[in-house]
Amino acid sequence: MTPYALAALHARCFRQPPPWNAASFGAQLDSPHTFLIADPQGRAFLLGRAVAGEAEILTLATAPEARRLGLARDLIARFETIARVRGAADAFLEVAENNAPARALYAACGYAQNGRRPGYYVAESGQKVAAMSLCKSLA
Ligand SMILES: CC(C)(COP(=O)(O)OP(=O)(O)OC[C@H]1O[C@@H](n2cnc3c(N)ncnc32)[C@H](O)[C@@H]1OP(=O)(O)O)[C@@H](O)C(=O)NCCC(=O)NCCS
Repeated sequence: MTPYALAALHARCFRQPPPWNAASFGAQLDSPHTFLIADPQGRAFLLGRAVAGEAEILTLATAPEARRLGLARDLIARFETIARVRGAADAFLEVAENNAPARALYAACGYAQNGRRPGYYVAESGQKVAAMSLCKSLA
């Protein structure tokens, strides 16, 4: 998927936090620590990073019409495999506390809460939403 295709799908999936534009994806992909895992049909993707023994899910999105098909679960499994190959012992991510589908997904994939940042995200309404930090050992 190109940075433009990534940004187009992101825009269909995110309001808060706001979607990333193509330039943001391009800049992320320029980093040697960052890696993209994408569904061959372009219905879903995960952008990950592994550096200094830790891996992070930077963003993850599945097109609305392709949800509950196991695409995100598969991307997370592939992310963990690549992270281990790149020497990561633990994986981290942040998710908005009110994002019930994503929280259910990460729980199903074995991620557990290890922190909380109150008011980290600001919704379109102006409402502040906490970020939950989740982690998983890759050992
Ligand atoms: C969260 C998101 C990535 C899930 O993608 P997906 O491809 O539909 O997820 P999967 O089909 O792989 O789901 C795997 C499991 O996660 C859980 N899950 C996923 N979506 C869920 C939902 N809406 N409600 C409850 N559980 C859900 C279930 O346990 C599911 O297994 P099951 O379908 O066998 O019950 C997708 O809803 C999305 O793109 N949301 C908007 C962007 C976003 O929030 N990204 C994550 C930000 S951190």
